[in-house]
Amino acid sequence: MPATAAEATHDVVVLGGGSGGYACALRAAELGLTVALVEKDLLGGTCLHRGCIPTKALLHAAEVADAARDAGRFGVRATLDGIDVPAVTTYREGVVGRLHKGLQGLVKAREVEYVEGAGRLDGPDTVVVVGDRRLVGRHVVLATGSTPRTLPGLELGPRVMTSDGALGLDHVPDRVVVLGGGVIGVEFASVFASFGAEVTVVEALPRLVAAEDPASSAALERAFRKRGITVRTGARFASADAREDGVTVRLEEGDPLEADVLLVAVGRGPVTEGLGYEDAGVTLERGFVVTDERCRTGVEGLWAVGDIVPGLQLAHRGFAQGIFVAEEIAGLSPAPVVDAQVPRVTYCEPEVASVGLTEAQAREAHGDGAVETQEYNLGGNGKSQILGTQGFVKVVRLADGPVVGMHMVGSRMGEQVGEAQLVVGWEAHPEDVAALVHAHPTQNEALGEAQMALAGKPLHAHN
Ligand code: NAI
Repeated sequence: MPATAAEATHDVVVLGGGSGGYACALRAAELGLTVALVEKDLLGGTCLHRGCIPTKALLHAAEVADAARDAGRFGVRATLDGIDVPAVTTYREGVVGRLHKGLQGLVKAREVEYVEGAGRLDGPDTVVVVGDRRLVGRHVVLATGSTPRTLPGLELGPRVMTSDGALGLDHVPDRVVVLGGGVIGVEFASVFASFGAEVTVVEALPRLVAAEDPASSAALERAFRKRGITVRTGARFASADAREDGVTVRLEEGDPLEADVLLVAVGRGPVTEGLGYEDAGVTLERGFVVTDERCRTGVEGLWAVGDIVPGLQLAHRGFAQGIFVAEEIAGLSPAPVVDAQVPRVTYCEPEVASVGLTEAQAREAHGDGAVETQEYNLGGNGKSQILGTQGFVKVVRLADGPVVGMHMVGSRMGEQVGEAQLVVGWEAHPEDVAALVHAHPTQNEALGEAQMALAGKPLHAHN
């Protein structure tokens, strides 16, 4: 039974101050509810301090390095003298620090009670915080996030690290092996290569970013090879020997790889152990909290949002779920967050972005005959030519029906996911989008061109 109004210390107690948790707390407070937000580390969580923000700052520094290195291509005389890692870190921490300060100000301004310390559930309506604070909520929202996974027998240390450790490096290693060609793996591979390291990506599956449409994986692999990054797909990790002067990485087949650093990027696992979740009646599956589409755990008044809920582990999905739960508690009956409409961007160079179904998923869901696709090559896009980037936009539609998926590869193409998500989310038909004028010369135009081709009136594309 949830706490009654008389027993409760707050309307909503949120456990975890990352993207999902703080979004829920801010929205609930905005809706007039009394809120406590419990965080054991830093407000903002992984996304702000160890994930999205610092890694994208690193990727921006990498872009600047590439621009200096390649300046001659554009007729500009410049040389890349090297990477000052401590200075990159200062820049990165400046970005994080300003956002952190802003967020702390917001929490204060909305009168959310911020409780610092490690919390755990003591029954379905109570969060106990170390230092014996007891917070009783009419509603409790679990938002404890995720942490990097590693593999059995792989001990982390100065030579073997996850993304958390890589952010702490004070120099650019000469040789890096990246274990895992998923999102984190390709983003860090991209940074290290731009910073001048020799990089090998080892991925067990047959392709990089395997959750994406195979066309995106193929384009990324081609681009990485061109950048001098070695890509070993279908390669299974066997063992790693870390020494003081380096690490030897053995795969199940082939010669061992020698490196200065092994970056382990084999996925992130939910943080749910030892927090009293199961005792409170929550069902865990492989450590994730099982919920229905409305983020309900099955225990009245107990909700879960963000990376602990199976599905896309993305900060913006966490924000959306947090806001959703706050509105649901406030009785606004919001529409649930649907993973299929959540945009995905991988910020390596070139960027990979998508929303909705891959071609294969669309064919499986709707039948082979019901799906049409169009690929528009960025070779025909003026702005992409100017930037010197290659890639494509691929649109997946139902025959005579709406667009159900969009997939893009190319420098800066992540920024184009905004239009793609509106098209997929609003179930627009290519004919509708083709009628809208796209600005010239922009990369955005490539999205319009792909839709024009699907609508049977290509301008700079073949039908
Ligand atoms: P991931 O699940 O995207 O990729 C892990 C990869 O490691 C998979 O391709 C898997 O096949 C491979 N792998 C696993 N075991 C292996 C083995 N023994 N040998 C070789 N390869 C092996 O997980 P990742 O990249 O660690 O990212 C974690 C989460 O963080 C993801 O869900 C991602 O969406 C999120 N994230 C999102 C970002 C973004 O939106 N730009 C940026 C960074 C992370």
